[in-house]
Amino acid sequence: MKRVAILISGGGSNMVALAESMAGDHPARPVLVLSNVPGAGGLARAEAMGIPTEVVDHRDFKSDRQAFESELISKIDEYAPDILALAGFMRILTPLFIDHYAGRMLNIHPSLLPKYRGLDTHARAIAAGDAEAGCSVHEVTAELDGGPILGQARVPVLSGDTPEALAARVLTMEHRLYPAVLRRFAAGDRTLVTLP
Ligand code: GAR
Repeated sequence: MKRVAILISGGGSNMVALAESMAGDHPARPVLVLSNVPGAGGLARAEAMGIPTEVVDHRDFKSDRQAFESELISKIDEYAPDILALAGFMRILTPLFIDHYAGRMLNIHPSLLPKYRGLDTHARAIAAGDAEAGCSVHEVTAELDGGPILGQARVPVLSGDTPEALAARVLTMEHRLYPAVLRRFAAGDRTLVTLP
């Protein structure tokens, strides 16, 4: 069984989708949910599912990213994960952290990468007049939202869409895409997943 640590900052709906998927003949199991935000909604959801949780509050480290990431690494490695899944983890990571988990860290991003790296992806897709939007799961490398793409799911942009309405439509696809990619990745398969 592969051991999966999931990193969150917020509500954790992708974390729940991932954790629920890791059952039966799935080749992985969740061993840790860690948040950089004390009180993040996803922590209570993880606890309710019986998954161990940890908090490393980035504010305790002021602007010292290296100290924050060193503490993250030591907490995470207590759980000996084979795979790290970033699921709405809203901190930019430096090579110290990324190199430590090279080749075993995934992220979900709410755009059709390489379009719209960074923030406000849905507002940017609407402003650009795009006919479709979506989400991507990619391997994490030193380039922000730039690692090899392992899966993508598309949704239409509808006329009159607000960023919130589009985000909700994309999020339902995130909950299908991320588990599908994780299952393949945990089995050693990096072929692209495309949905629907
Ligand atoms: C998701 O939409 C995810 O794609 C996005 O944050 C949301 C987290 O929701 N991630 C990023 O924007 C990463 N830059 P969740 O906490 O309900 O899973």
